[in-house]
Amino acid sequence: LMNGQLQGRTVLVTAGGTKERLDPVRFISNDSSGKMGYALASAAADQGAKVILVSTIHDRAIPAGVTLVQVESAQEMLTAIQQRFATLDVIIMAAAVADFRPATVAEQKIKKTTDNDRMSLSLIKNPDILKTLARQREQQVMVGFAAETQQLIENATHKLTEKQLAMLVANDVSKKDRGFNADTNEVTILRPHQAPEALPMMSKTALAEALIERILPLLP
Ligand code: PMT
Repeated sequence: LMNGQLQGRTVLVTAGGTKERLDPVRFISNDSSGKMGYALASAAADQGAKVILVSTIHDRAIPAGVTLVQVESAQEMLTAIQQRFATLDVIIMAAAVADFRPATVAEQKIKKTTDNDRMSLSLIKNPDILKTLARQREQQVMVGFAAETQQLIENATHKLTEKQLAMLVANDVSKKDRGFNADTNEVTILRPHQAPEALPMMSKTALAEALIERILPLLP
């Protein structure tokens, strides 16, 4: 891949699992380590892009040329992206966004009670970030991931269409050597009106470069 191919472009990448607060000391989240998102941010910066990394993970080294924006919840992530959306050329949603959040956030630490051995949480749906942005889209090339544990291509194809994406990275997350928290990944790339492209197993760093290479021809 030749260098500097994203010179003058602004790329926003999301990374990590969103944290959905229950009370001041607890949250619901998932196993996303941010590795895939950080690798993508780094690969985009290597091509000369101005890179904004909106992440729930901030204990990793920030790649050179990348600006980190720290967020916690899905709602915060959406707001952080919307504030910058008009300036973006590419958005890559590698973050594992929680589909639901606690219906209420307790102001004080939730106490166990003596009279019940069972408690239930009431959850409400989070906004779908990609779907919300698709409605405001102008020049932006929008790339999503699909984390699936079954029927990878069928489920991912549905997300490609539903979220109106230029590219979707279908990620089988049912095995230890790929997906959440692994250093390697194996994915299939879906694009509208194109046959799925299965990539071999590789490091997340190498995969990030391969994905950036495939995003370049999608830019207007
Ligand atoms: O962080 P790592 O440990 O390196 O792991 C990488 C990864 C497995 C998290 C990553 O490769 C991945 O698959 N990310 C997407 C995880 C996810 O939320 O998938 P999903 O199928 O639930 O969502 C589909 C797409 O819609 C994703 O691009 C997601 O960011 C986006 N989404 C989801 C829910 C929501 N409310 N709004 C969204 O925009």
